Amino acid sequence: MGTVVDKTGSIIEVKGVTKQVHDASGVLTILHEISFRLAARESVAIVGASGSGKSTLLSILAGLDVPSAGQVRLAGIDLFSLDEDARAAVRGEHVGFVFQSFQLMGHLTALENVMLPLELRGERDARRMATEMLQRVGLGARLGHFPKLLSGGEQQRVALARAFVVRPALLLADEPTGSLDHATGEAVMQLMLELNREVGTTLVLVTHDVGIAARCDRQIRLVAGRMQVEAEA
Ligand SMILES: Nc1ncnc2c1ncn2[C@@H]1O[C@H](COP(=O)(O)OP(=O)(O)O)[C@@H](O)[C@H]1O
Ligand SMILES: [Mg+2]
Repeated sequence: MGTVVDKTGSIIEVKGVTKQVHDASGVLTILHEISFRLAARESVAIVGASGSGKSTLLSILAGLDVPSAGQVRLAGIDLFSLDEDARAAVRGEHVGFVFQSFQLMGHLTALENVMLPLELRGERDARRMATEMLQRVGLGARLGHFPKLLSGGEQQRVALARAFVVRPALLLADEPTGSLDHATGEAVMQLMLELNREVGTTLVLVTHDVGIAARCDRQIRLVAGRMQVEAEA
C-alpha cells in the first residue's frame, strides 16, 4: 500500500490539529494547531520533551484519539469524518505501529505473531510472507520462539517484521528503541530505516535520540504542544 497518495501527493495531511482535555482545574490544551503534510516514503522524526504531546499526536494520526479541532487526511480520506468502525478499517488497511514495549502476543511464536496481520486480511500466503520477513530482519532461526525466549532487540525486530509485512502506507513508531540499550537500539533503528525505504512506507518516528532524529528526512519539534519545524531536507 506504499503508493497510496491523495491528489497533492501526500500520504498524510494534518491541518490545524488541536487537542484539549477537560479536568477539574479547567481546559488543558495538549496540542495547538499542528499542521504538516508528508509525501509517500518520507520519514519525519517527532522530537520534544516528555509531556510535549508526541504520543497524543501519534494517536491522532492513527485515528485512535480524536482531535478537538482540525483535520487528518490519510491517503486522501478525512479520518474524523468517519465513524469509529470506518476509521478502524482505514487504520487496518494503511497504518502500522511499533511501540516502545514491543506488544507481541506472548502465546504466539515469532512466526505466528508476524502471520497474524496477514491472516486478518485473509492473506493465503501468510506463512511464506511472514517467514521471508522474519528472515529479512535476521530472525530466520527464531521462527518458533515465543517472545519471552527472545531478547529485547529480537522482540522489537519481530515487531518490525509484523508492522512491515502488510506493507502499510504509514508506519507510526513511538520511541521504538526506548527500552533497548544504545547499540541494540541503533541496530533496530537502522533496520527500520532500511525497511522504510524498501517497502516505501511513510515513517513518523517519535524519538529522544538526536542522532536517530537527524537520520530522518525531516524533524518536527513539539514544545508544550506547539510545533517548531527544525529542518527540512
Ligand atoms: N487523556 C488525558 N487527559 C489529561 N491529560 C492528558 C491526557 N493525555 C495526555 N495528557 C497530558 O498531555 C501531555 C502530553 O502527553 P503525551 O502526548 O503523552 O506527551 P509525550 O508523548 O510527548 O511525552 C502530558 O502533559 C499529559 O499528561
Ligand atoms: Mg510519549
